[in-house]
Amino acid sequence: FTLRSGSEPVVLLSAGVGATPVLAMLHALAAEKSNRPVWWLFGARNREEHPFQEESRSLLQELKYGHSYIQYSRPRPTDRRGVDFDAAGHLAVSAFDKIGVPHDGQFYLCGPAAFLRELTAGLAAWGVTADHIHTEIFGTLDSITPGMKAETHSPHLPAEPAGFGPQVSFARSGLTLPWNAKYQSLLELAEACDVPVRWSCRTGVCHTCETALIAGNVEYDPEPLDPPATGDALICCSRPRGEVILDL
Ligand code: FES
Repeated sequence: FTLRSGSEPVVLLSAGVGATPVLAMLHALAAEKSNRPVWWLFGARNREEHPFQEESRSLLQELKYGHSYIQYSRPRPTDRRGVDFDAAGHLAVSAFDKIGVPHDGQFYLCGPAAFLRELTAGLAAWGVTADHIHTEIFGTLDSITPGMKAETHSPHLPAEPAGFGPQVSFARSGLTLPWNAKYQSLLELAEACDVPVRWSCRTGVCHTCETALIAGNVEYDPEPLDPPATGDALICCSRPRGEVILDL
């Protein structure tokens, strides 16, 4: 996932902390005083979760043809449209014609899996050829599955006294126990039970913790950047709303 040399426009598309690798590209373009048109397209939940805001803005100002378009999926009342962000909602290819994104650019995408899937499909449908689309998922499975060796996991009830909440079942692990409000999330409860889990951001951005919800409903706090697929739950930022059965 590296910046290719050439004269074509460069379109840097990212969400949340997925901005990190494409920010390095923006630094490189600014350092060489590139004459290429450069687009910085970024999605976040709101200003509080908008990393590198000042840094990206000042780098774009160093470029002759720098453009920026920021979308907040859940802007707060204090977030300033036209200053902090340009539009509410999720970043989508459907807006690109209106804002003037060039079809013939090299597109570099970094963010959660769902973000990459959606935008890659959108770009292909918009006429961008595969050799102009470069993607990098935020996080990798090997480094974000701590302790996944089978022999180290033997799911068990937590050491502390049971809670008084609705029943939570980890179906694959054969465990059912009452929810305890001392946990911030279903992920924390699973960890307390030594149930094998996957996670990375723990804040509802990367979807690494996405798990099939066999039965029941959950509520989110914080709300995820993008909702999980129908029938799934992001366990890092959710709690049970009534009895739940998770495919864990
Ligand atoms: S761990 Fe990233 S969304 Fe749950």
